[in-house]
Amino acid sequence: SDSRVSYIRNSVTKIADYPKPGIIFRDITSTLADVRALTYVLDIFSERYQRSGITQIAGIEARGFIFAAALADRLQTGVTLIRKPGKLPRAVHQQSYSLEYGEDTLELHRDALGATDKVLLIDDLLATGGTMQAAAKLVSQCGATISEAAFLIELSGLQGRQRIAQAGVSTYAICEYD
Ligand code: PRP
Ligand code: MG
Repeated sequence: SDSRVSYIRNSVTKIADYPKPGIIFRDITSTLADVRALTYVLDIFSERYQRSGITQIAGIEARGFIFAAALADRLQTGVTLIRKPGKLPRAVHQQSYSLEYGEDTLELHRDALGATDKVLLIDDLLATGGTMQAAAKLVSQCGATISEAAFLIELSGLQGRQRIAQAGVSTYAICEYD
């Protein structure tokens, strides 16, 4: 539908058998390094969200930070950091989520967001959705409204979109892979 989406899709590097046999890794470092691809990504996100009243863009550590900061400059919003444990110095909300093996936790400053905030959540890639589901719960714990969860890439076979929907949040992704 959009030739920019085809260009972006082709800029992502496909790595077979990483990090283990049978897994196809979608590597966005090549997209970030390609100024035309990166500009298209930011153009598509900013066209979608420019008139939506978003006050803060919340990026998820680490790769989500890249898109949060760049898009916040386009949309003239603040950036909110959702971080791995032990990194934020003030009082935090915490959410743990399951991984393939074990568990991980994300944190958000309790005073980072409030009832007047409308927040766009952003990350590079949607796989199982556990990361974004936890991030959405953190934003809700602060009493803020969530606009949407936005991604560069959705691995649609893993049903992550459905998991995010369980937190009452809709998902948008620029590119999709099975
Ligand atoms: C990756 C990716 C997403 C998450 C998606 O981050 O950047 O944040 O996994 O997985 P999920 O949908 O199954 O939860 P990762 O924690 O591997 O590392 P990063 O710090 O490089 O972003
Ligand atoms: Mg990540």
